[in-house]
Amino acid sequence: MTALCDRLFRKTINGNAGGILNGNKGESAVASRYATRRCDRRIGFEWTQEPVPTLGEGQILIHNIYLSLDPTNRGWLTEGGNYLPPVAIGEVMRGFGIGVVEQSRNSDFPEGTFVQGFLGWQDYAIADGTNLYELPKDPSIPLTAYLALFGFIGMTAYFGLLDIGKPKVGETLVVSGAAGAVGSLVGQIGKIKGCRVVGIAGSEEKCRWLKDELGFDAAINYKTESVVESLQQHCPDGIDVYFENVGGEILDLVLSLINLRARIVLCGLISQYNATEPVPGPYNLSNILNKRAKLEGFIVLDYFNRAQEALVDLSQWYAQGKIKYRVDVIDGLENAPGTINKLFDGTNQGKLIIRVSEE
Ligand SMILES: NC(=O)c1ccc[n+]([C@@H]2O[C@H](COP(=O)([O-])OP(=O)(O)OC[C@H]3O[C@@H](n4cnc5c(N)ncnc54)[C@H](OP(=O)(O)O)[C@@H]3O)[C@@H](O)[C@H]2O)c1
Repeated sequence: MTALCDRLFRKTINGNAGGILNGNKGESAVASRYATRRCDRRIGFEWTQEPVPTLGEGQILIHNIYLSLDPTNRGWLTEGGNYLPPVAIGEVMRGFGIGVVEQSRNSDFPEGTFVQGFLGWQDYAIADGTNLYELPKDPSIPLTAYLALFGFIGMTAYFGLLDIGKPKVGETLVVSGAAGAVGSLVGQIGKIKGCRVVGIAGSEEKCRWLKDELGFDAAINYKTESVVESLQQHCPDGIDVYFENVGGEILDLVLSLINLRARIVLCGLISQYNATEPVPGPYNLSNILNKRAKLEGFIVLDYFNRAQEALVDLSQWYAQGKIKYRVDVIDGLENAPGTINKLFDGTNQGKLIIRVSEE
C-alpha cells in the first residue's frame, strides 16, 4: 500500500477569474483546493488556487461549507483504491461534503439551495447536479447533522446493523470502534431493538460516554483491558451480532466467542488502512464454520436508493431523544491533511468534519 506523504506542497495560480462571486463584479474569484501529488513513491497533497471558471449551461457553483473526513479517504489514496477507484494524481481529493449553491444555471438547484454530495477537498465546486442531494431547510436541524446522523453515516449504522446483523430482542451485540461516528449509532440502534450492547473503544472518556450518555450495557477499553476477558465478563450468553469497524486482533478475539448462527457485519477494518505490509488473516476463522456463522461485507453506497427508510426511523428516534451523536468540527480547509490523522490515532470525538466556510 502506498504510504501518505507527510509533506504538503503549495502552488498558487494567479489568473483572471472567470466567475463572479457574491455579486462583486470584477473581484478576483479564486478557488482553493487540495489535489493529490506523488512524492518519493508516496502520495501527498498539493494546495492549489485557481480562478473560478464561468458556469456553463446546466452548471452550478457551490460554496462548500462542511467537508466530511472519513477513514475511507485513506483507501482512495492507495494504488488500487477500495470500493471506489483511487483519486488520480493531480485530481482534487475526493470528499463528501455540504455546500450552498452560490450561482446557478440549473433550474433544479436555484441559488441558496443547500446540497450534499462528493464536493471534494476544495472551497468551491462546480457541478451539473448529478449525484447531488438537496437538503431540507429546517432551522431546528444543524447542517452537521446531515453528515453525522441523517447522511451516509446514519445509513451505514442503520442498514449495516438491521439488514446484515439482523439483531433480535434479547441478543448480544458487540460493536468495535464503538465511540466513533458509525459505532456510536450502531450501539444505540441495537439498544432500541432490544439487544444487550457491548462497545469496544480506545479511551476511558469514550467508554464513559458510551455507558453514561448512550446507554450501552458495557464498554471495554481495548488499550487498557484484556479484551477477551472483558468480553467473557460482559457477554455471559456469548455474542450473536458483531459489528466490525476495526479488524485485526479484536476480530479474532470476538470470533472466539460467537454463538451458533452469529452474524458479523464487516463494515470497516480501520486498523489495517495504513498497513504497509500484508496483514495477517483472522486465526479463528474455523469458528465461522463451527458456529455456522455468517460474515458479510457491507458498503453503504448500495443502500442510497433506500435512504428514506433510514431517514424516517432515524428522525423519529432523534426527536424522541433515543439517539444522539457528536461532531468534532475543525476550522479551515487547509487543515484537512493533518486533521484526518485524528481518525487513525483515535483523537476524534465523534464525526470528524472540516468547516470550510461559515454557514
Ligand atoms: N462500509 C461502509 O459503507 C462504511 C461507511 C462508513 C464508515 N465505514 C467504516 O466504519 C469505520 C468507522 O468509521 P467512522 O467514520 O465512524 O470513524 P470513527 O469511528 O469516528 O473514527 C475512527 C476511529 O477508529 C478507531 N481506530 C483507529 N485506529 C484503530 C486501531 N488500529 N484499532 C482500533 N481502533 C482504531 C479510533 O477510535 P478508538 O479511540 O476507539 O481507537 C477512531 O476514533 C471505519 O472502519 C470506516 O471505514 C464503513
